[in-house]
Amino acid sequence: QQSTEQWRPAIHFTPKINWTNDPNGLIYINGNYHLFYQHNPKGNEWGNMSWGHAKSNDLLHWEELPVAIPHGKEFIFSGCVVYDKDHVSGLGDPTKPLLIAIYTADYPNTLQEQHLAYSNDEGLTWTKYDKNPILSINLKDFRDPNIIWHAPSNQYVMTVVKPWEYTAQFYGSKDLIHWSLLSEFVQQGDIDMIWECPSLLELPVENSKETKWVLALSSQGPYKKTVGMQYFVGDFDGKTFKNDAPKEQVNYVDFGRDFYAAIPFYNTVDKETFWLGWMLSWSYGKEQPTFPWKGQMSLARTLSLVHTSQGLKLKQVFKPNFASQKPSFEAKNLVIDGSKTLSGIKFLQNKTYMVELRVDASRAKQWGLEIGDEAKENPELTRIGFDEKSQDWFIDRRMSGVIPAPGFDMIQSAPFVSGGDKVFQLVVDRSTLELLAQDGTVAISSLRFPKNKESLKLVAQGGEIRVKELRIWEIK
Ligand code: FRU
Repeated sequence: QQSTEQWRPAIHFTPKINWTNDPNGLIYINGNYHLFYQHNPKGNEWGNMSWGHAKSNDLLHWEELPVAIPHGKEFIFSGCVVYDKDHVSGLGDPTKPLLIAIYTADYPNTLQEQHLAYSNDEGLTWTKYDKNPILSINLKDFRDPNIIWHAPSNQYVMTVVKPWEYTAQFYGSKDLIHWSLLSEFVQQGDIDMIWECPSLLELPVENSKETKWVLALSSQGPYKKTVGMQYFVGDFDGKTFKNDAPKEQVNYVDFGRDFYAAIPFYNTVDKETFWLGWMLSWSYGKEQPTFPWKGQMSLARTLSLVHTSQGLKLKQVFKPNFASQKPSFEAKNLVIDGSKTLSGIKFLQNKTYMVELRVDASRAKQWGLEIGDEAKENPELTRIGFDEKSQDWFIDRRMSGVIPAPGFDMIQSAPFVSGGDKVFQLVVDRSTLELLAQDGTVAISSLRFPKNKESLKLVAQGGEIRVKELRIWEIK
C-alpha cells in the first residue's frame, strides 16, 4: 500500500503508524499534556485495543511514546487518568507522583467492567491493579469511565454509561478504588444511537461569576441521522445531575461528521477546561484512505457557556492562539460579488493555516470560501460558508477529492445561532477542517481528501457581500 503523507495533518495528532480512535486519559502534569488513545499497535484498522501514548507541551507538537497499556485477554477500552496527588489510593510508590488510569476492560462480546492501573513515571509504564475489577455490574456493555474531583462533596465522581439503555451513571469514591452508585441520568436528548464516552464538566458562564454543569456524551448514527456528540446544561450537587432543559431538547456539540469521543483534560492550570476529540466517524473509519495510519485527533478547544437567545450554549474556541501572530494575509472592507481568487498569497496543497472571515452585510444567497483546484471540468472543491436562505453554516465536501465511502460526499450544516456576528475561524490542516463560527457557538469538523493543488477563493453567489475583515495565518 502507498503511503499518503500528503494527508497527514501537521498540527493534529496522528500515530506514526496504525489505527487510533478515542482520546483517553487526557491530563496535564509537570509541564506536559498527555494524550493516551485507543490504539491498535499491530494494524491499520480497529483491533488489539490498547492505550497508545503521546505528550506535548503546546498541544501542537506531539511526541509519540511507547504503548502505555497493552491489552491482555481483555481489550483496553476508553477511560481517563487522574492525578492522585494525596495518594488516597494507597497504590504504588508513595514518594513519587502517582497517576491512576481507570478504563473499561472489554472481554469481547461477553463483559465490560471498569479496571484500574497506576503509574509512578508520568504515564510511561503502568501496573494493572491486582484486584481488578474496581467496578462491575455484569453487563456486556458498560463503559468509558470519566472521573472528576468534586470538591463540594469531597469525593471523586465517575460518570460511566450503559450504552444501549441511554443511561449515564454517576458513582462516588474517596479512594478511587471503592465506588458506590450516586444516581442515574436516563434517556434524555438524542436517544437514537447508543451513548458512549460521557464526561461531566463545570464550565464558566461568560460575563458572569456563575458556573454551570454540563454532561457531554458521544452518540453517532448513520450519515444523515445523528451527529457525534451532544450535551446537557444543568446542575450537579454531588449526587444528581439535573438537566435545565426539557428532556426532549437536543444540543449538539459539533455538526460535522468528524468529531467524537471528546473528553476534557484533567489537572489543568487555573482549572481551565478544554478537550479534544477523535476526528473521524465510525461510519467510514475503516475506509479512511490513509496509510500507514488511520485516525487523528482534533485540536484542543477551550470550553465555556454563553447566553444566547436560544438559552445557554456551549462555546468552543481553539486553545492554541493562532491569532497572536501577525497575519500572513489581511484585507478589510472588501465587496465581493461572484468569486475572487486570493492572489498575493499562494495556498498550495499541504499548507496548514487558519482563516478568519467577518461579513457584516450580505445580499447573497450563499457566501464563504472555496478551497480547490482551478479545473473547469469536474473541479475539486470544498466549500465552507453560510447559506442565507436556510440560515445554515455549512461544509460541502461533495466534490472534495477522494470519496472513501458512499455517503461521505455530503453537505454538513449547522443552524445559525441568532444574535451573533457572521464570523468564523477555519483551520485547514491538509485532510482536516475545523470550523468554529459565531464565536465558537457553532462547530463543524470534517475530513476531506483532496488530490490536486489547491487555491483559496472568496465567494458570494446571487448577490454581493461586504467582508469587514479577512485574516489568514499560515501555521508553520
Ligand atoms: C467510542 C468507543 C468507546 C469504546 C472504544 C473502543 O468510539 O466505541 O465506547 O470504549 O470506542 O475502542
